[in-house]
Amino acid sequence: MCGIVGYLGARQAYPILIKGLHRLEYRGYDSAGIALISDGGILNLYKSKGKVADLERFAEAKDTSGTVGIAHTRWATHGEPNDLNAHPHYSQSRSLALIHNGIIENYAVLRLELESKGYTFRSNTDTEVIVYLVEYIRDTDGVDLCTAVQLALQQVVGAYAIAILSKDDPDCIIAARKSSPLVVGIGEDEFFLASDATPIVEYTDRVVYLDDGEIAVLRRGEPLRVVDLHNAPVTPVVRRLAMNLSQLEKGGYPHFMLKEIYEQPQTLLNCIRGRINIEGTSVVLSGIIDNRERILSARRIIIVACGTSWHAALIGEHLIEDLCRIPVEVEYASEFRYRNPVILPDDIVIAISQSGETADTLAAVELAKSRGAFIYGICNVVGSSIARATDSGSYIHVGPEIGVASTKAFTGQVTVLSMLALTLAHEKGTVTDERFTALVRELQHIPDHITQVLKQAPAIADLAKTFTYARNFIYLGRGYNYPAALEGALKLKEISYIHAEGYPAAEMKHGPIALIDAEMPVVAIATTDSIYEKTISNIQEIKARQGKIIAIVTEGDTAVRSIADHVIPVPRVAEPFAPILASIPLQLLAYYIAVHKGRDVDQPRNLAKSVTVE
Ligand code: AGP
Ligand code: GLU
Repeated sequence: MCGIVGYLGARQAYPILIKGLHRLEYRGYDSAGIALISDGGILNLYKSKGKVADLERFAEAKDTSGTVGIAHTRWATHGEPNDLNAHPHYSQSRSLALIHNGIIENYAVLRLELESKGYTFRSNTDTEVIVYLVEYIRDTDGVDLCTAVQLALQQVVGAYAIAILSKDDPDCIIAARKSSPLVVGIGEDEFFLASDATPIVEYTDRVVYLDDGEIAVLRRGEPLRVVDLHNAPVTPVVRRLAMNLSQLEKGGYPHFMLKEIYEQPQTLLNCIRGRINIEGTSVVLSGIIDNRERILSARRIIIVACGTSWHAALIGEHLIEDLCRIPVEVEYASEFRYRNPVILPDDIVIAISQSGETADTLAAVELAKSRGAFIYGICNVVGSSIARATDSGSYIHVGPEIGVASTKAFTGQVTVLSMLALTLAHEKGTVTDERFTALVRELQHIPDHITQVLKQAPAIADLAKTFTYARNFIYLGRGYNYPAALEGALKLKEISYIHAEGYPAAEMKHGPIALIDAEMPVVAIATTDSIYEKTISNIQEIKARQGKIIAIVTEGDTAVRSIADHVIPVPRVAEPFAPILASIPLQLLAYYIAVHKGRDVDQPRNLAKSVTVE
């Protein structure tokens, strides 16, 4: 979710806000906007699709005066990236302007309620319901802006960092957060507001990080006031910033890739948000439900993707065949588009793409559409070319992925595929109610399990030193974990430049075992599952030939621990979700080996984040 900047003080706000938006560009976004209360008391609002530079061109020769303002870079989740859906959003009367980072889960219900009261919405975003609701409460209950914000947020379900301006009160900005970050900078008779400290650090090192459920009232000439949603006062903790700009952009992490590995508990919560109910008894993927008949009538599903997304597709194949009993074929998009494939009109084609711009995947989608197939997209970038080319789909909502090596997008893709398989299985009745509920609840706990696995990062960093000089790696997995082995190998080779191959563990006997000697590290994913004993046999075959074994095991495992050279335990989880957990230590192992080798982890040689050419 993207970028917020605010300013209230004696200086002209516009240059500070625009510079702040530039500071947040690294986070990735699709549109930008700004609202200012001019020196003449007008609430001006300028916004445009595209870059901050496009916003600056749009605002040229317009009134950008004023010493109070808010600005936003949008990463769309609801509503195409365009001028209308960009933030800020006016209230109905245009007396208020609001910016928002996050997702409002119950926006549809709130929108219907406000429409029934005569409100007419201008955009397709979830955000707009907040500013309309605040105005409705302020005007109906005759309360002040802060109270109206408190009462409105008590009705809102979801994640938000918001800032709101009122043209009737040019000395005040009100901000609030829940799940999305928000920082207040405290200067000399001036306040700054931002999603992180990068737009603030050059003006002040005194910051207050808001916590969930807190509202900050920035008022000219008064100290910062923080209250909760029920107006109970909160004592703000003022901290001193100790990081420089580059460190701040990465959230204090040395690389975007490590930041994104650590974001996964939160990004998977965002991915699941609004789709699995609190009780863990239902999964709703609107893209599936809206096309229920068409999708349930499919006799075959074809999944097209590239790279890491292709590995996610292999897990999707296993999930859908295992749980829904629908035949699935997984295709490299680059092969599928040229081999004159058989595509039947009642086929469902799923296209998986983080960027939504991969040329081969887009071409495969166009080919399938031309043959009459129904196309379902699983993308991260809202409004991307592939997303717009599909008939329906589900966004993974993991936020911008900056590191070229995909991490949080992979686990987000597999999580959406898990929810898709569960939705279809429940609709088709191919899993019992108790197995369905058990799996849904297991999926709900994955973010917590990932948090546990991440605590092993220091041990994995030490282990990585042992293998920095390896020239080859083999990654092994069976069943659901075979694609995780492929993904682990790809992570290592694309950022450390060490040659690595993934194999189905049993396939070693058919040739690759000739490679095994004391110089060959072998990563074996051996979590406790239905074929665990077989995997142990494969590990023993490697051991007998002096291979060095790094095993990913289920906590409490003793059998593999007794034969492997190194073990990395992960929490016990239902077999279909094992690859999500197993991928975390493999992301960390690849990351630390690459760092020990001094590689450019975020932008490895020869690679691009989005392969928009053939
Ligand atoms: C994964 O780490 C790589 N960056 C690459 O394989 C990537 O997954 C592939 O290019 C597909 O990209 P997409 O998901 O944006 O379509
Ligand atoms: N959900 C809001 C939208 O789609 C905010 C997105 C963001 O966090 O930038 O406009």
